[in-house]
Amino acid sequence: MSLLDLAPVIPVVVIDDAETAVPLARALVAGGLPVIEVTLRTPAARDAIARITDEVPEATVGAGTVRTTEDIAASVAAGAKFLVSPGTTLSLVEAMDASGVAYLPGAATVSEVMALVERGIKELKFFPAEAAGGVPYLKSLAGPLPDVRFCPTGGIRVNTAPDYLALPNVGCVGGTWLTPADALAARDWSRIEKLAAEAAALG
Ligand code: 3PG
Repeated sequence: MSLLDLAPVIPVVVIDDAETAVPLARALVAGGLPVIEVTLRTPAARDAIARITDEVPEATVGAGTVRTTEDIAASVAAGAKFLVSPGTTLSLVEAMDASGVAYLPGAATVSEVMALVERGIKELKFFPAEAAGGVPYLKSLAGPLPDVRFCPTGGIRVNTAPDYLALPNVGCVGGTWLTPADALAARDWSRIEKLAAEAAALG
């Protein structure tokens, strides 16, 4: 099954303390969101991916903010089941292709999308979604590129997610709104579970 069809929303999480990874992942899974993107923006990210892989088997955990071939190797070694990049370079997409795991390369323009389609890749991250044109932009892409599907992320919140999810070329959306920094700092897992449940209900 496609990564885009596992859940309506992929939480994009920034983990500062790897100790929080397992209870955080459990809260998201309990709320109904089993697909979790851990961004490689903190030194704790790889350890967080490894811990979730080992201790929360119900979760499908992947690495986000993948920018280099080294990021890919380290993420896969940590147990990442998928890779997400904000944009795409030739060397990055070649390494993603060779990684053996699912991947969503980032694209924001028609030409970037077409370059990936030329390689046979038809499931992409659309980033930064709101800043790059949001729902009207994706609607425009569906005309000339009807066989390409997206996970838009960047600036999407619970109130705007339904407009994206209603589009035929959107499989799911991603965002950080499910794991607010203050909730993480306070270890407020019940708040995160509630945010996840609210998002899961959009599907
Ligand atoms: C991403 O990497 O997908 C974005 O940082 C998520 O954007 P958001 O913080 O606006 O949800």
